[in-house]
Amino acid sequence: MEKKITVLPGDGIGPEVVASAVKVLQAIGKRYNHEFQLSYAAIGGSAIDEYNNPLPDETIAICEASDAILLGAVGGPKWDNNPPELRPEKGLLKIRKRFDLFANLRPVKAIPSLLGASPLKSEVAENVDLMIVRELTGGIYFGEKHRDYGQASDLNIYTREEIERIVENAFELARLRRGKLCSVDKANVLETSRLWREVVEEKKELYPDVEVEHNLVDSVAMKLITNPGHYDVVVTDNMFGDILSDEASVITGSLGVLPSASIRSDNFGLYEPVHGSAPDIAGQGKANPAATILSVAMMLRYSFGLQEEAAEVERSVSAVFDDGYYTADLAKGNSRTLTTDEWTDRVIAEI
Ligand code: NAI
Ligand code: MG
Repeated sequence: MEKKITVLPGDGIGPEVVASAVKVLQAIGKRYNHEFQLSYAAIGGSAIDEYNNPLPDETIAICEASDAILLGAVGGPKWDNNPPELRPEKGLLKIRKRFDLFANLRPVKAIPSLLGASPLKSEVAENVDLMIVRELTGGIYFGEKHRDYGQASDLNIYTREEIERIVENAFELARLRRGKLCSVDKANVLETSRLWREVVEEKKELYPDVEVEHNLVDSVAMKLITNPGHYDVVVTDNMFGDILSDEASVITGSLGVLPSASIRSDNFGLYEPVHGSAPDIAGQGKANPAATILSVAMMLRYSFGLQEEAAEVERSVSAVFDDGYYTADLAKGNSRTLTTDEWTDRVIAEI
């Protein structure tokens, strides 16, 4: 298989963790005989420095000509006092919107040798293997806003089409996983939620192999902590998904191992770690590259349909942790602390 990938290293530890993930991608290419052609471009703070634009036209053009995008992270104190249009995170918002990446996927899976880092009891955290699917380009964050002295409002609008495409996406994902879908809403009070529920009920007919449940968001907020092992795929709107995905991200207790994807219906997608640019440890070889490496696994699976290759990346990452090798963020008493590059080389040796 031949694929074109745009690589956007970004700022801080972004270039370091992306370099690791690219090495792993090349190792997979070599082992399974695929050719991954890489084009590098600028986004975020480094793009502001070079082009005075957090998402330059040059970068958009390169992304348009590719099959998927791998992103590191953006931001840092250097740009904190810039005006809104010249802030690094503007580049992120713009690229998601520009490519209509409406489905945000955030998997959370327990890694047995890292259970000690979870704030939950090990017996609660050990069975966690879930994915939050958040609608990313509609809803209350994008609705008309109004403010005067005496009142303020934010309009929450969802069209049937917007709900249909995210719900279809979630059903397809459930099929690739354990075949369970939990749709989250607030249908007891919100009209948008009642439409959401109606669409899920309609789509259900097309996926008889997927088991569906509807749940209210407040109830899910509790159950994610008391019984997170219950969930497989969780699909929800933009605001509920924002909150629940952050809640779910603390279950494993390690920001450094959480990948994400933002995709659309033709499988084009942007893959990036959940963490930021970690300026406090940048340039010191301390960054944990696991989240970005696991984001590459998501790219292989969801954009390229390479299930076996994706599983091999995930297996290799787990194996290195199980052997007791960690980067500084996860190192404990009797473990071996490796640099970003040393840890990456272990993963490549596994592959
Ligand atoms: P952060 O995620 O960059 O860092 C939080 C803490 O976790 C820091 O102590 C950091 O050293 C540590 N950490 C994060 N990733 C790590 C890794 N891979 N390995 C080891 N340790 C890791 O969040 P923070 O500090 O709030 O933000 C720093 C900058 O990143 C800000 O400019 C922020 O705007 C930006 N940011 C960018 C995001 C993105 O590009 N998607 C997301 C979140 C923040
Ligand atoms: Mg958030």
